[in-house]
Amino acid sequence: MNTVGIDAVEIWTGNLRLDLPDTFAPQKGEDPEKYTKGLGLNASSFPDSYEDIVTMAANAAYRLMDRKGLEPEDIGRIDVATESAFDNSKPVSTYVAGCLEQVYGQDFHHANKGERKFACIAGTQSLDDAYNWIKAGRNRGRGALVIATDTALYARGDAGEATQGAGAVAMYITEDPSLVELSTEQGYGSADETDFLKPNQQFPSVDGKRSVQVYLARMREALTDYESVAGDIHPDDIAYVPFHTPFPGMVRKAGLLAYRHVTRDTEIEEELAAEIGRQPRREAFDDEDAYREAVREYMDALKETDRYRGWYAETIDPTLTISREVGNWYTGSVHVARASALKHALEDGRDLAGESLYVGSYGSGAQAEIHEETVVEGWEAEIEALNVDAQLADRHDLTWEEYERIHDAHNHDVDSDVEPLTTPEDEFAFDGWGPMGERQYRFVE
Ligand code: CAA
Repeated sequence: MNTVGIDAVEIWTGNLRLDLPDTFAPQKGEDPEKYTKGLGLNASSFPDSYEDIVTMAANAAYRLMDRKGLEPEDIGRIDVATESAFDNSKPVSTYVAGCLEQVYGQDFHHANKGERKFACIAGTQSLDDAYNWIKAGRNRGRGALVIATDTALYARGDAGEATQGAGAVAMYITEDPSLVELSTEQGYGSADETDFLKPNQQFPSVDGKRSVQVYLARMREALTDYESVAGDIHPDDIAYVPFHTPFPGMVRKAGLLAYRHVTRDTEIEEELAAEIGRQPRREAFDDEDAYREAVREYMDALKETDRYRGWYAETIDPTLTISREVGNWYTGSVHVARASALKHALEDGRDLAGESLYVGSYGSGAQAEIHEETVVEGWEAEIEALNVDAQLADRHDLTWEEYERIHDAHNHDVDSDVEPLTTPEDEFAFDGWGPMGERQYRFVE
C-alpha cells in the first residue's frame, strides 16, 4: 500500500483582528505583557458579521481545490471538524458542499459527508478517518477533504476571552501525498474530564487553570502510549513538534514536559546532570508529594538551561508564529501549528524532506493524541502557495466599540443586526435565513 497523508493545506482567517496589547489590555486594566509575554499572543482573529464556520470552511476548501485543480468528482469525502456547530442534525459539511457546488456547477452527491466532535482534537480525528478510509481501499481513487473550522469565542469577561480566534484549515488527504505522510503508530491519553465544555450552550464553561493541567496530563499519557508502540523518541529525531495551541504559553509548558520525557535515559540527561542533576525517579521518593516537588524543581532548572532553550527555539517556537497573530482556532490550531513550522523551514531554506514532525493534538473533555509525520519531497511548493501572511495583514483592525458590537453579532442570545466592517470579495458570505431556519450562503464576486 502506498503512503497516505496530507497532500495540500489551506488556511482561512476571519477578516477582523483584535489587538491584545493595545486594544484589549487597556480595557481590562491589565499589563499588555500579560498577553504578549504571558499568553504569548499579539492578536485574535475575528469573523465579520457575514462570516461563520461555514464561510471560513468553504473559503479555505475553495482556495485549496482551485489551487490544486480539483473538481468535486476528485473528492470522495468531506469531513468537517468543529466545536462551534449551529445545527444538531444537519452537518456543517453539507452546508460547505452546498457552497462549493455554487461555484463548481457540479455536485458532491457521491461524497460521504460528516461532522466530527471531540473539542479541539476533532480535526486530527477527521484526518484519522480519512487515513483509515484510504488505507482500507474504500476511496475509489478519490481524496478526502478534511476541514477544521471554528469561531472560538468566549463569553465577555471570561478569562478565555483573551485567547479567542476564528478561522479554518482545509486539508486534502490522499495516497502519495505532496506534504507529509502520516505514521500508522499513534499514542493516546484519554479520560472523562470536565475542564472545558458547552452543554447545549454557545460559549464554553471553562475551568481554565485545571484545563492547563488536564492538557499536560493527557499529553504525557499520549507520549508514553506512542513510545510503547513506536519506540523511544530521541530529540535529535525531531524537526518540529506542532502542538494544539490554545495560546503559545500553553505550548511553552507542553514543550518542557515533552523535552523532559524524551531526554530521560539519554546522553542529554547525563550531559545536563552536571548542571541541574538527573531527573527525579519516582522509586527514589517515599511519597508522591515529595516526588512532584522534585520534578517541579527539576523542570524549573531545565527550562533555564541553554540546551533546552536552544531546542525550544528550533523545534517549538517556529510552530507558534501564526498562532500569535490569530489566537485559538480550536480544531484548526494544531494544523495551523504544523503550517507555521513548515513555513518557517521554507523561509529558512531548510531541506526538510524525510524529517519528522511529532504532532501533539488535544481536545478538552479530554484526549491527547500523538503521531509522527514525515515531510515528503516537494513539500516546499505546497507551503509556498499559502497566502496566510497577506490574509493576516489585510484584516480590519477592530476598535473596542467595534469589538463589542461584533461579539454581539455572533452571540446567539443577542438579537442584533450589525453592519459588516469589511466587504466580502471572491468569497462565500452568509446571506440570511431560509424558511426552515437554515443559514444560507452565496459566493460574492
Ligand atoms: N508579564 C508577563 N507575564 C505575565 C504577566 C505580565 N505582566 N501577567 C501574567 N503573566 C503570565 C502568568 O504568569 C501566566 O503564565 P504562567 O502560566 O506561565 O505562569 C500567564 O501570563 C497567564 O496569566 P494568568 O494565568 O494569570 O491568566 P488568566 O488566569 O487570566 O488566564 C487561562 C489564563 C486560565 C489559561 C485563560 O486564558 C483561559 O481560561 N483560557 C481558556 C482555556 C484554555 O485555553 N485552556 C488551555 C488548555 S485546554 C485546551 O487547550 C482546549 C482549548 O483549546 C480551549
